Amino acid sequence: MPSPVSEHDLARLVDAARAARQHAHAPYSRFAVGAALLDEQGRVHAGCNVENAAYPQSLCAEAVALGVLVAAGGRRVQAAVVVGESAHAVTPCGGCRQKLREFADDDTPVWSADEQGWRARHALGELLPASFGPDHWTRP
Ligand code: THU
Repeated sequence: MPSPVSEHDLARLVDAARAARQHAHAPYSRFAVGAALLDEQGRVHAGCNVENAAYPQSLCAEAVALGVLVAAGGRRVQAAVVVGESAHAVTPCGGCRQKLREFADDDTPVWSADEQGWRARHALGELLPASFGPDHWTRP
């Protein structure tokens, strides 16, 4: 069981995700997203979406934040916060759910927020049930 994420860390995460969202490069979709991840050392790593004129080359905010976490020496994701403005709570896309799975557990919380407040909380295992992860590489 992961330790519950404190209110203080949640506030740090949502602040960082909102700040990163301000730097989103999203001239094509005009849909700015910010993401922030809490690592095993209590550090916060943030990212924003970075789109490209060649659409498939675009990066999601979660993928950018994960790269920042790994490059800083982080190895586990304790909690994730995604910030976007939508009628629906913004959750990570399918590809990013799998990317998060590499560094997180089924019960790792993934929060959705917008500029006004919290929108949703899911466990990663709800977003990506029966997932394939690093443990599958362990041979019997
Ligand atoms: N996007 C993210 O960065 N994260 C999400 O959780 C959902 C979608 C981006 C991808 C693209 O740049 C834009 O939002 C519209 O899909």
